[in-house]
Amino acid sequence: MPVHTLKDKVVVIGGASKNLGSLIAQECARDGARIVVHYNSDSSRDKAEQTAADVKKLGGDAVIHQGDLTKVAEVETLFDTAVRAFGKVDCMVNTAGMVVKKPMTETTEEEFDKMFAVNTKAAYFMMREAAKRLEEGGKIVTIVTSLLAAYTGLYSVYAGSKSPVEHFTRALSKELYGRNISVNNVAPGPMDTSFFYPAESDDSVAYHKSSSMNGDLTKIEDIAPLVKFLLTDGWWINGQTVFANGGYTTR
Ligand SMILES: NC(=O)c1ccc[n+]([C@@H]2O[C@H](COP(=O)([O-])OP(=O)(O)OC[C@H]3O[C@@H](n4cnc5c(N)ncnc54)[C@H](OP(=O)(O)O)[C@@H]3O)[C@@H](O)[C@H]2O)c1
Repeated sequence: MPVHTLKDKVVVIGGASKNLGSLIAQECARDGARIVVHYNSDSSRDKAEQTAADVKKLGGDAVIHQGDLTKVAEVETLFDTAVRAFGKVDCMVNTAGMVVKKPMTETTEEEFDKMFAVNTKAAYFMMREAAKRLEEGGKIVTIVTSLLAAYTGLYSVYAGSKSPVEHFTRALSKELYGRNISVNNVAPGPMDTSFFYPAESDDSVAYHKSSSMNGDLTKIEDIAPLVKFLLTDGWWINGQTVFANGGYTTR
């Protein structure tokens, strides 16, 4: 069997200071990957430094980089940092995201623009830049949401702004034929992180839990190994959105 490893591979991770992105960085580090730990908010800097320290402890290498990925120039700078620090880029994982849960009648123009800036525009230009910079055999993974397979209200602007990424992924995976680069999305179920709770009530948390096979939320530990698989032995998976949610939604 051929060996697919992240040893000495350079992985740019958008939104890697905490929660899912941080755990993905640590999973990659176990193989000896070199990671660009991206963070956005000033308040995430300490956590980004902690993630970088954890990556080094686990046998990888890391640099941290701050940027607002809704600005294309800052996406380009993120990849410049990777090349400056490690000489190349092999993989890009983008976990950047933002949620609003409310009826359409209450959604403001500002909220709409912000959601599409983070969930759509940043996702697009992270993929575009990765496509320009990745080495032969590279991998691109974007985190979307299991709500893409849900028939539900209240997430119109969140799920709606994640939904175009599926089409970006199909298109880019085709365009990259010949360079052996796979492009995929991972769609977690409602995940037990600080991202999830502010938008939900006790009742809705209970409902989300009751919708999976073990009566619990998705954990970051359920998702990070799947992302690593797509970066390694899952290399043949291409152009797909992989739902990982204990059966919460399916299609
Ligand atoms: N938790 C859930 O229920 C759930 C379920 C399904 C899918 N997801 C998706 O999974 C991904 C990771 O979520 P998580 O639960 O691990 O929460 P998280 O740690 O809060 O991840 C969101 C990330 O997006 C970054 N971000 C926000 N605005 C940005 C911007 N303008 N530029 C660059 N980065 C920006 C945040 O960085 P800063 O904090 O530094 O600003 C943060 O690292 C998200 O894409 C989310 O949509 C989450």
